[in-house]
Amino acid sequence: MITESQRIASILSNDLYKSNLKSIEEAESDRIFCKHDMEHFDDVIKIASHMAKQNHSKVNSEWIYAAGLLHDIGRGREYTDGTPHDEASVEIARVILKEAGFRSYERLIILNAIRHHRNKTPRFLLNRERSLRSILNKADKLSRKCYECKAADLCYWPMEKRNREDYFEDR
Ligand SMILES: [Fe+2]
Ligand SMILES: [Fe+2]
Repeated sequence: MITESQRIASILSNDLYKSNLKSIEEAESDRIFCKHDMEHFDDVIKIASHMAKQNHSKVNSEWIYAAGLLHDIGRGREYTDGTPHDEASVEIARVILKEAGFRSYERLIILNAIRHHRNKTPRFLLNRERSLRSILNKADKLSRKCYECKAADLCYWPMEKRNREDYFEDR
């Protein structure tokens, strides 16, 4: 990933980030379902950045990058000790974001998006279409190529969550 941001470069070169990425890679080497690798993170970032632009969102582009890079970083822990990966990602990301120089109010916003990246954003939340939390959740699902997946019959994702042509209708 090419970046001009010092803070994003710090995430990518962080030892804790690299070691967690390596455990995910090892655990998923034979995985037939979607992987949680740099390609996935990159896809999420691209889609989320596009959505933010389209929705005239004021979400900082570095927050989108950070959230995209870190939202699944706890996946390795889920494989080893069963901690749900959204929780594990928050714990790991908290340390990495601080070391990369993100300020406390920024960490709150990014960690909140990571914590809820598997949940649909409730309607009562103001500006939901424009929030990092909402953008991350949607971009994560849209990044998955369910329509051409060879493991679709075995996938645990319910049909309504899968990325299909009608995805944009009220999700
Ligand atoms: Fe995830
Ligand atoms: Fe993801």
